[in-house]
Amino acid sequence: MSQAKFVIEHLEPELGKWSMIEYKHISKFLGKDRLWVTNVKNLSGQEELKEYATVITEPTVDLKLKNVCVLDPEGTEVLTPEDAKSIDYYLFGGILGGYPPRKRTEKELTKFLPKDYVVRHLGPMQMPTDSAVYTVNEIHNGKKFEDIPFFDKPEHKINQYEIVQIPMRYVNVNGKPLISAELLDHWSKSDDSDQRFGLYNANEDVPKDEEEEEEEEEEEEVEEDE
Ligand SMILES: C[S@@+](CC[C@H](N)C(=O)[O-])C[C@H]1O[C@@H](n2cnc3c(N)ncnc32)[C@H](O)[C@@H]1O
Repeated sequence: MSQAKFVIEHLEPELGKWSMIEYKHISKFLGKDRLWVTNVKNLSGQEELKEYATVITEPTVDLKLKNVCVLDPEGTEVLTPEDAKSIDYYLFGGILGGYPPRKRTEKELTKFLPKDYVVRHLGPMQMPTDSAVYTVNEIHNGKKFEDIPFFDKPEHKINQYEIVQIPMRYVNVNGKPLISAELLDHWSKSDDSDQRFGLYNANEDVPKDEEEEEEEEEEEEVEEDE
């Protein structure tokens, strides 16, 4: 089994605390040697990141890599262990999981890549980058996507008053969603809404995505016509 590299193209304007925690977490379970973070231009935190990954200032496309698979929720086929046999580099968007998803991987990454890169998805729900990397490593090691267990939209108790539903899919590792202890701690301390981007109180309605809204509008129009 080849030791494929996992390349994350950082696409947020800053190297914020949340991104740093996710990259550190990936480095912990994958190993520093297999993790590259690209497109890190003069961002504060760059020096700290070097402790956990190979840090590259250029965008991935400038590295002229061969045998690359980009993981994009808009891909038309799911990644399989068969695909993995010819992949040396897996490429992910270093994007925080906003909700509803805005196809940022396609618009900010895939669109600019050479046409010979393989594009694959990991099912219909978006995962945070660390869960996506873990899932791809499982598939690279021979597991089929459909045999990997997940938690969809898990609830997380922030404190005695607040429970949030996290509108994403997490890989299930030993019966728990794969979320780093450092991120849980960060959430519990943060009252800045930007830091809890994508999280909604479980007692409130989770915002609908565009498709759901369109379907509902169509249903309303049909009812009006009747
Ligand atoms: C939190 S996701 C960001 C998704 C982003 N909201 C979007 O609209 O594209 C971070 C990265 O994990 C990978 N990823 C997460 N879920 C995925 C899925 N279901 N299929 C393929 N890639 C996925 C992609 O590489 C993505 O850029």
